[in-house]
Amino acid sequence: MRHIQIKALSPSPDILAMLSDMLIETVAHGGSVSFMHPLQPEMANAFWENSLAAATRGERIVLGALDGDLLVGTVTLLLDLPPNQPHRAEIAKMMTKVSHRKRGIATALMRAAERMAFARGRTLLVLDTAVDEGASPLYESLGFNLTGIIPDYALKPHGGLTGTMIYWKRIAA
Ligand SMILES: CC(C)(COP(=O)(O)OP(=O)(O)OC[C@H]1O[C@@H](n2cnc3c(N)ncnc32)[C@H](O)[C@@H]1OP(=O)(O)O)[C@@H](O)C(=O)NCCC(=O)NCCS
Repeated sequence: MRHIQIKALSPSPDILAMLSDMLIETVAHGGSVSFMHPLQPEMANAFWENSLAAATRGERIVLGALDGDLLVGTVTLLLDLPPNQPHRAEIAKMMTKVSHRKRGIATALMRAAERMAFARGRTLLVLDTAVDEGASPLYESLGFNLTGIIPDYALKPHGGLTGTMIYWKRIAA
């Protein structure tokens, strides 16, 4: 973790290419992040172009974990919520490059996301993760509370339904 820097990402061709490669790889390895395998580069690029454009408008923060110039992890903090939920934010698209997993990168990304959320007056975080091959141990180790499970919520990247686990966490300074 010594060399890993966490920062908000801005649109650039290099960042877009690395985000897309990570998303394609994550889906190929069975990660439930909204897409089916094989994920076409055009679809991955379009997703991240839209996401980084939303970040530029201040509607979300796309955080990156960088090992030098190499993007090795990402998480998105969604801030664009309805007017009656100004205190809330959502966590999405948490992923670490396969070669860099189990080193604490996702944990560092989440801690940074929590700090940024709190700095923007957000005191409640919500996320969901797949029952099969999801990240529930990670979120529980970070203090997220399980609300419950919705069965058969989404298709897994290689097919077959999985439930989703809904988590929440109050955050403070
Ligand atoms: C889930 C995911 C983001 C975790 O990323 P990661 O960078 O490996 O996460 P961390 O290293 O912070 O923690 C993962 C585990 O490694 C352990 N760990 C952390 N540092 C470690 C170290 N130095 N040595 C050994 N293990 C370590 C943690 O205790 C944690 O244990 P857990 O499996 O009980 O949760 C990653 O596996 C991934 O990209 N999965 C596919 C996409 C996905 O499912 N995303 C979630 C969508 S909701």
